[in-house]
This record gives sequence, structure tokens and C-alpha cells, in this order.
Amino acid sequence: MQDYATDLGLKPEVTGFFDEATNTISYVVKDPASTACAIIDSVMDIDYAAGRISYDHADRMIAFLRDNGLTLDWLIETHVHADHLSAAPYIQGKLGGKLGIGAGITEVQETFGKVFNEGTEFQRDGSQFDRLFRDGDRYTVGGMECVALHTPGHTPACMTHVMGDAAFVGDTLFMPDGGSARADFPGGDAAELYDSIQKVLSLPDETRLFMCHDYGPGGREIRWETSVAEQKAHNIHVGNGTTKEDFVRFRTERDAKLSMPKLIIPSLQVNMRGGNLPPEDEDGKRYIKVPLNGL
Ligand SMILES: [Fe+2]
Repeated sequence: MQDYATDLGLKPEVTGFFDEATNTISYVVKDPASTACAIIDSVMDIDYAAGRISYDHADRMIAFLRDNGLTLDWLIETHVHADHLSAAPYIQGKLGGKLGIGAGITEVQETFGKVFNEGTEFQRDGSQFDRLFRDGDRYTVGGMECVALHTPGHTPACMTHVMGDAAFVGDTLFMPDGGSARADFPGGDAAELYDSIQKVLSLPDETRLFMCHDYGPGGREIRWETSVAEQKAHNIHVGNGTTKEDFVRFRTERDAKLSMPKLIIPSLQVNMRGGNLPPEDEDGKRYIKVPLNGL
């Protein structure tokens, strides 16, 4: 049994940056005892119809770090996102820091390297990242000890990162009234997702939980912070003692009706490269491929 305990007395300052285009929340997590921080799940802007990328959302985060005199220790991707593009290399180029993702990235790279018919220049060994986290791995942001939990199910590379009393769950859970994320992408598995959610909910009740997405169900205002206790009591998909069998049946039926995320094609091609754009073509331009009937 892995030990995921962290110092719950350490309460990092967490600032969420909501991206309206993709309903993603990116975070700056600051060590309470120093100027060190981590950025979790950054976003690159894209106008997919126009094939145009920009960095307004990332620039807001960079300005926040500079205005507050923060130093960037880590850029963390909770997983290979299918609904937005990462801006991690852009931010790393301006502020430094190490880029980390779950070790399951190699499985995701194998799968989508085939889907997008990538050539040998596309490395499938995770070498685009500075660190590949395994379950229970520890690292520090300033003096704050952090731990990575492998929480697969939505994708094989999904990790939850616990920093002091705060846990960043990626797409393992949504807010209690949003439930859980889909488990039907290649390498996804509803039963695995249930087990991963139980793993997150086995953290101490008072642990603050931060979501990667919120869609404001029922028209409520966007929110991204909850707690283990609230999720256990109120989560509409897994709360109140929902059994694994019930969850798997519900999740599988629901997923069969969902359409693909609008940005899945560009997101995967960029995010499987650690947020780097595909290499230049002979004409010096970069292209995103659309495999027909390939997903
Ligand atoms: Fe996701």
C-alpha cells in the first residue's frame, strides 16, 4: 500500500484561472513558506476554425507570477487533455520550471501516434517531459512536499497531485453536482475510474479538491473547489455509497451518448507532444491532421 500522506497543515495559496472557451481551470499553487509555485494544466488559446493559436490565457498566468514575484518550480499536466491545448512549453520558455505528467503518457503516445500516423520523429517514450510520475512519487514546490497519485480511468496517464491540503484531481471528478468525467477514450475504463475516485476520496475529509473543469450544471455560477467530505456526501455519480457496479453501468450508458470534444483533434496532437506544436512541414508551416473516421 502506497503512502500518500502529506502535511495537511500546509495550506498552499491556490489561484484558479478559468478559460471560458473550454471550461478549463488552470491553477497557480504557491508554497506558503516561499515564492515557489507550480502551474497546473495551462491552456493555449485556439480558434480552430481559423487555424489560429494565441496565448492570452497563458500570458495572464505569466503576468500573475511576475506581478507577485513568484518562481515557477513545476508545470504539471494532470493528463493528456482532449478538450484544450496545453501552453506548458510556452510558459516554460518564459519562466523556466520542470514539466511533468504521469508515466502512462507512453501508452497514450503509442495509441495516438498510430491514430495520427506520426512518423519516427514523434518519440513515444515521454521524452518531451522532464519527469514522468509514478504512483506515490514525491517532489517539492519550494519547501512544500507534493505527491502524485495514479488515478487512471478517464485516461491511462491521469494523475492526481496532492500539495499540502490541496489535491488537483484532473478529470477524475467534477464538482459534486457535475459528477465524473467520461471513461470512453482509448485506454479509458469506467471500473478503473471508480477505483481511482475511491482513492481520491480516501484522502482526509478536509482535503481541498480542485477540479480541472466546470460546466456550471443547471446554470449555476462556475465553481472549482470542493472537499473530500463534500464529494463523499453529495457527488451525483459516486457519492453516498454508490456501488462500482451501478457506477460502471451508468457511466457506460452515458458515455455511449456523448459526442467527441470539439477540440479533441488539435488537443491530442499538441498535448501528446507535451504541448509542443507538430514539426514544420517542407513549407515551414505547421499543420494539424484530421484523420477521417480515425477516432
Ligand atoms: Fe480530460
